[in-house]
Amino acid sequence: MKTLTLTIDGKTCAGAAGQTILEIAQANGIEIPTLCFMKEVSPWGGCRMCIVEVGGIPKPIPSCATPATDGSVVVTKNERLDHLRKLTLELLFSERNHICPICPMNKGDCELQMSGYKFGIDGIRYPYLYPAFPVDLSGKYLGLDHNRCILCTRCVRVCDEIEGAHTLDLGNRGVKSQIIVDLNTTFGASTTCTNCGACVSACPTGALFDKDAAFHGALKKCVQVRTTCAECPVGCGLVVYTTDNRVVDVFGDQDSPVNRGHLCVRGRYETWAVPRERLLEPMIRTKGKLAPAPWEEAIAAIRAATARLAPREKSLLVSGRLTNEAARILAKFRSGIGRVGMYVAQNEAAMCGEPDFAPEAFARIDEADAVILLGADPARLQGVVAARIRVAARKRGAKLVLLNVRPSDLDAHADISSRMIGFESAFWKRVAEVLRGCRRPVLVYGPHAMTSPGIAAMEQLLAIFEPDCGPTVVALPSTTNALALAAAGIEAVDNLSHWLTTAPVRALHVCAADEPTGGAGILHDRAVAGLLHSMEFLVVQAAYVSRLTEFADVLLPTTVWSERDGTITNFEGRVLPLRPALTPRGQAREELHALESIYA
Ligand code: SF4
Ligand code: SF4
Ligand code: SF4
Ligand code: FES
Repeated sequence: MKTLTLTIDGKTCAGAAGQTILEIAQANGIEIPTLCFMKEVSPWGGCRMCIVEVGGIPKPIPSCATPATDGSVVVTKNERLDHLRKLTLELLFSERNHICPICPMNKGDCELQMSGYKFGIDGIRYPYLYPAFPVDLSGKYLGLDHNRCILCTRCVRVCDEIEGAHTLDLGNRGVKSQIIVDLNTTFGASTTCTNCGACVSACPTGALFDKDAAFHGALKKCVQVRTTCAECPVGCGLVVYTTDNRVVDVFGDQDSPVNRGHLCVRGRYETWAVPRERLLEPMIRTKGKLAPAPWEEAIAAIRAATARLAPREKSLLVSGRLTNEAARILAKFRSGIGRVGMYVAQNEAAMCGEPDFAPEAFARIDEADAVILLGADPARLQGVVAARIRVAARKRGAKLVLLNVRPSDLDAHADISSRMIGFESAFWKRVAEVLRGCRRPVLVYGPHAMTSPGIAAMEQLLAIFEPDCGPTVVALPSTTNALALAAAGIEAVDNLSHWLTTAPVRALHVCAADEPTGGAGILHDRAVAGLLHSMEFLVVQAAYVSRLTEFADVLLPTTVWSERDGTITNFEGRVLPLRPALTPRGQAREELHALESIYA
């Protein structure tokens, strides 16, 4: 790459051809004020806060949108530039209603407010326009107050370039310009917004805000803990903001090599903004009713009820969200329990047979010229994968072939989209036509590829490519740590009623961990509900109250994602840390400690 040298504020700075003045300045430790700039998306050059003087050019120019030229002399600070930046800020403050004391971003979380302080703005020389723009509170998790918008378009660009949804854009003209959702509807009525929250994270003011975090504490004053989302096998990096032992907000970790700061609705909101009833103390069923009991009594009750049983009459069924550390503890006392199984999604057990991590899967998707989805549903289950696929197809022109059982928003961007039934040779000819000439294809498959039609489709797909340019194959299970737990020797079970009836189980311990459903998902199979009813002794260890907890003889409260410690292994094979952001509520204990004290 061609290098260039320029002088910025008297300092000789090296950069690469194509880099902007701002990029080179930042790389050389020179700070230039910005507002509309975001390094993750393309430059907009709209706010003019980053203006600099370049020798030979009479007018100041935006450094974020101007490519550097070799030998140029740049000045980033002087009286004239600061005067112009101050004018810009005054115009921004005058144009809308920036009444900081009633804004959720007050007290340090607003870049506009901080810029005002930085440039010493204590009054403005222009009349306030006091507009009466609408406030959209119809979104499930986010709100938009147009009266605080500075039209920086950071939200528009992240929605388009990172989530790939292009829900947002600019509407109207001049002083009436405003951000619009879809074709000028509301968040509540949007058909394209995925609730990923990227726009809120990008907004430099209080225009876009998280409804459940608003006025719950200034983020600047919160404790920040970096941990990992354990809602799916992607394992996105999180930054959890807490105060007084409660979560105030959750953002993506920009430094995470997995998600690079982006999240989906599950990791961004569903873990903390959806109210759920916690199990806070152990309970023992006496005379038909569950009543609170100390941990020691609950453990004694389990030991007493299971001591008289042979190991083959006892089974332990665990959630695929258990940590790698819990799996190691289980290995220690497995001989005392007949069977240890991990319940997984329908058709997923076959994916766990040969633990099949896909190293650098995201990097492959990012450079793919074709993405094929077979029996996977990332738009619903692994949103950050869906975002990368949307961007690959929409922004980079990668071919997209979807062979899925469910419709999703990805269908709108696909070259071919088909439910996986009754493929005929004409169909495969069409697929081959679409994929002809692709050199970097990626085939992402999910649990539904493990059915007979799925396996047949996989064979057809692989046969389309020449041997030397076959696709990178990526297994994308839906259960968080299923591949690693299977690799640790825990049997994956996707037909529970069969598993429960092939051995004489008399006592069953279900460890549902912090599944949002409290483990009640296993009751979707009605036969399982019947089998649990007739079980002699049932222990349920879970974080949330659910229909499953009603079946239990002993209930054990466990920790939730924000209280957990340990590691999980993501679908790429990366071992990722879970770090506690909160101390456990009530008497909740981590699964592995409770399991150890019962069975060791
Ligand atoms: S939540 Fe995500 S999809 Fe919805 S508007 Fe914001 S960035 Fe776009
Ligand atoms: S809503 Fe926020 S991010 Fe979007 S244009 Fe307005 S100020 Fe910028
Ligand atoms: S893609 Fe998976 S790991 Fe990432 S935020 Fe969504 S649920 Fe969490
Ligand atoms: S940061 Fe460069 S124009 Fe806004």
